Amino acid sequence: MKTLIFITILIVTVSSEIKRYSFPDDFLFGAATASYQIEGAWNVDGKIPSIWDTASHRNPSSVVDGTTGDDAGMSYYYYEKDIQALKDIGFKVYRFSIAWTRMLTKTNQVNQKGIDYYNKLIDRLKEEGIEPMVTIYHWDLPQYLQDLGGWTNPRIVKYFEIFADLAFKSFGDRVKEWITFNEPSVFCDEGYGWASHAPEIRTDKNIGNYLCTHHVLLAHASAYRMYKEKYFPSQQGKVGICLNSGFNYPYNSTVTQETVDKAVNFYLGRFANAIFTEEGDYPKIMRDAINEKSKNEGRRWSRLPHFTTAQIESLKGSADFLAINYYSSNFVVPFDLLPGWDPAGSDNEIWGFHDPTIWKRAKSVWLYQVPDGLRDLLIWIKDHYNNPLVYITENGWSDEPMTIDDYDRIEYLNLHLKALSQAIDASCNVKAYTVWSLIDNFEWMRGYTERFGIYAINFTDPERQRIPKKSVALFKDLMQNMYVEIDEN
Ligand code: BGC
Repeated sequence: MKTLIFITILIVTVSSEIKRYSFPDDFLFGAATASYQIEGAWNVDGKIPSIWDTASHRNPSSVVDGTTGDDAGMSYYYYEKDIQALKDIGFKVYRFSIAWTRMLTKTNQVNQKGIDYYNKLIDRLKEEGIEPMVTIYHWDLPQYLQDLGGWTNPRIVKYFEIFADLAFKSFGDRVKEWITFNEPSVFCDEGYGWASHAPEIRTDKNIGNYLCTHHVLLAHASAYRMYKEKYFPSQQGKVGICLNSGFNYPYNSTVTQETVDKAVNFYLGRFANAIFTEEGDYPKIMRDAINEKSKNEGRRWSRLPHFTTAQIESLKGSADFLAINYYSSNFVVPFDLLPGWDPAGSDNEIWGFHDPTIWKRAKSVWLYQVPDGLRDLLIWIKDHYNNPLVYITENGWSDEPMTIDDYDRIEYLNLHLKALSQAIDASCNVKAYTVWSLIDNFEWMRGYTERFGIYAINFTDPERQRIPKKSVALFKDLMQNMYVEIDEN
């Protein structure tokens, strides 16, 4: 009898630790993808090559398993399967990107077949009551533009304007949520600084990646201003930019808040400061440090280019929302607490790192589970950028191919949804969340070795069936209840 009472008490105690984290009824949940990662059909119906076609076809290619996005999930043919997958969960929004290389030829003529494809996709989504959220640029730059220097050539701003104009004109009657760029820090740093992504250009000491940063910001502002002037009066949509960031935690008590802020300013602020602050321009702390370092390096001008006053004004306020991709966070330590570190090697002079003894790691080497970082980053954004409208446009976990019982992903997602709900309770103005990703896809230089989908794909199956993983059930429940329940034990 005693044992029975003890067990009952234990059960009551354990179950009383389950806590509920809820979301407002009008909060939008959905899933995200990107054109090159899912569409396949890389050379059909007038599509021209992108820098990712070039990088993955190169022999030997830098993609770890030697694969390409030539076919991927074949969403160009099987988009109905994607829509069905969204529908089965009850998702309300689908974030996808449009391929520049499908919509325009090398001489900037419209490729109608490319437009037709996205029209079909958008129309079907609308019929199913799913809101399209369109990323205009998710990394698949036309190769012929890269041959002119890509994002390091100032002329790219005009080329991007032509593409964005076509997108607004063709789809803006139905698309009300536009994202100009996906994660510019990643494609600038990895594509034009460290050569770890297409177009695989290496420039020492943050030169190519800062030129890229500068032109992306100008291209963003000019697309935003064009939309406001030419399309907003009739289309009434919103235009924002998507930035990725983690939060930075002081490694120990000797690391100050100043270091934390500096790290966020150098990373998120490199794009966000010009758009979301009154001050405008690059963060002053960044501007000053790079000017000074460039001078000490004996350069004739700063590695970080300068905006004109008119450009600063045009960038200020040039977003109706901030889209955030959050995956992980770091610890930070300033170089001056690390004897022997060479300050010349880094512009912010901060070392950021993960601690594998504390944080669980995904299949991807860079992805550690730090859910509180999402909440803390959102609060930082609220406090520093005047509480802008925020959408979480990516958040997800990678594992081995065909892990259908994806319990680690479920744990990661539940904890991040909890952190998101806490951020909303702390008055952060977040209104949407799209999980990365709807389906398994081409994970850039990691090929098909790391999977982020909540639906699995066996890439040897010609039908590319979308197979629900266990995490699909999590989202089905979420769509029904608008809360997650976490066992806090
Ligand atoms: C990108 C996605 C990518 C995901 C996981 C983000 O950086 O926007 O395209 O697949 O992270 O690596």
